Amino acid sequence: MAGLGQRRTAVAAAFAPSDPVLLVASEEGRTQLSRAGAGMLTLRGGGTFDSGRLVGLAHGATLKVAGVSFVAYPPAITDLHATMERQAQVVEPFDGAVLALLCNVGAGSVVLEAGSGSGGLTLTLAHLVGDAGHVHSVDRNERHQPVAERNVQRAGPTLAQRVTFLQGDLSVDAGRMPGLEQDHAVDAILLDLPEPWTCLGAIERLLRPGGFVGCYLPTFNQVEQWTIAATAGPLTEQRALEVLSRDLKVAPGATRPSSRMMGHTAFLCTARRTAATVPSEG
Ligand SMILES: C[S@@+](CC[C@H](N)C(=O)[O-])C[C@H]1O[C@@H](n2cnc3c(N)ncnc32)[C@H](O)[C@@H]1O
Repeated sequence: MAGLGQRRTAVAAAFAPSDPVLLVASEEGRTQLSRAGAGMLTLRGGGTFDSGRLVGLAHGATLKVAGVSFVAYPPAITDLHATMERQAQVVEPFDGAVLALLCNVGAGSVVLEAGSGSGGLTLTLAHLVGDAGHVHSVDRNERHQPVAERNVQRAGPTLAQRVTFLQGDLSVDAGRMPGLEQDHAVDAILLDLPEPWTCLGAIERLLRPGGFVGCYLPTFNQVEQWTIAATAGPLTEQRALEVLSRDLKVAPGATRPSSRMMGHTAFLCTARRTAATVPSEG
């Protein structure tokens, strides 16, 4: 462990029982999320193997199964996204990370998120808040939230213990949800739901003064409606933007942008909560 004033250095590690493991087939780049020591595993390309072989294996080591070489990595957040179960539209890491950063989410932040959906944004937030922070993830749909819970559980206990899932409608249940009874209980509120303006009362109640609200909104109409509604509340520093991500195809002498590109995901809107207005003097 690093002492006071000492810089922490990376330590090579090995997989422990029940750690999540990303298996990457060396030749085709096919990936599969597995768990060390969780019994027999069926490989996507065919064949089975005992995942007990992963226990004690060094991170980044290669193992051969049924004639195919796989590199075993601890999954990064982007790997968890790429392999997660999906139902509603998922907030991809390039949007989620920017939205979280604009809302000043970092180590130790207490964040409220609605709705949970498939848990895409939840994974990004749980990664960013660290062990000292927490994510409260609310959804009103009983069918959606179990998918988010499964996706967070399969990410392993380190991330899973940073998240509490709550069933409820944020526009009507604020103040009644376990762990969020106190006013100004959270540092940031992140909303990926169709009508964030219905949650302005919840924002006023639960977001601490100085904290940020961030909305993920697929259409221009929603951006306008949100911005107009938010102007009437205790929110200033409004900002709206879009993140475009373009992969490069790297080949000697022929490096260029990939022909395929995700044209649109959503717009990101942020605002900051003021305290109650201070009465003027005299
Ligand atoms: C697009 S999904 C969220 C996807 C999620 N951010 C992800 O990355 O996987 C929107 C979710 O918001 C939920 N929702 C909509 N309005 C809500 C409200 N007022 N309170 C709580 N959840 C709500 C829906 O049930 C749905 O599951």
